[in-house]
Amino acid sequence: MHGLFRSELSSVSKELPTIVVLASGNGSNFQVLAEKSISGELRANLKALIVDRPCGAVERAKKLGIEVEMLSKPWHEDLERVLDTLKPDLIVLAGFMKIIPERIVNKYFPRIVNIHPSLLPAFPGKDAIKQAFDYGVKVTGITIHFVDAGVDTGPIIFQKAIEIEEGWDLETLESKIHELEHESYWKVVSNLLYKAYKIEGRKVRSC
Ligand code: GAR
Repeated sequence: MHGLFRSELSSVSKELPTIVVLASGNGSNFQVLAEKSISGELRANLKALIVDRPCGAVERAKKLGIEVEMLSKPWHEDLERVLDTLKPDLIVLAGFMKIIPERIVNKYFPRIVNIHPSLLPAFPGKDAIKQAFDYGVKVTGITIHFVDAGVDTGPIIFQKAIEIEEGWDLETLESKIHELEHESYWKVVSNLLYKAYKIEGRKVRSC
């Protein structure tokens, strides 16, 4: 399977590829994606922030002038409606704390990506930074992956590790992880939009 969202189309269209971001929380990753698209470093049109609850991300979107879609219940039906209306090239999960139903995953695979704050398959699910810290691992990191029907199980696109230094507390580790997420996610999104790749089983390869 090839991931040529726009490189295939660039000769026929000058329009930027479109993305939407889904979030449920603070929204710091959303903010970086929005700022990079506004500055043009990320050549994408961020059409909307989609949230399932009032959260910090909404305030950030308002300040940046990005449209917000607040999902109404049942949220998965509304999500499918919003996605079918906006028709984004890429759906970017950034702290969206709900499991996307299999029906939507299958419809959009491989166009939904997620960022997770551990080196998967270690510490999937909630509170991954704390899980890793409490476990006492010496190395942890971040994973960016395609979303499949499982929880944090999709094919891995990108990982980067951090060595936990003696003396770091949980807060230090959290800030290091977020720093790494902010520096990496928009670049990976850009690569997905503009560079060819193929997915062979669990392996994501550039081509
Ligand atoms: C990020 O650390 C992201 O990796 C994590 O939620 C945080 C959202 O922060 N996602 C998950 O744990 C998904 N399983 P943000 O709202 O400041 O971008």
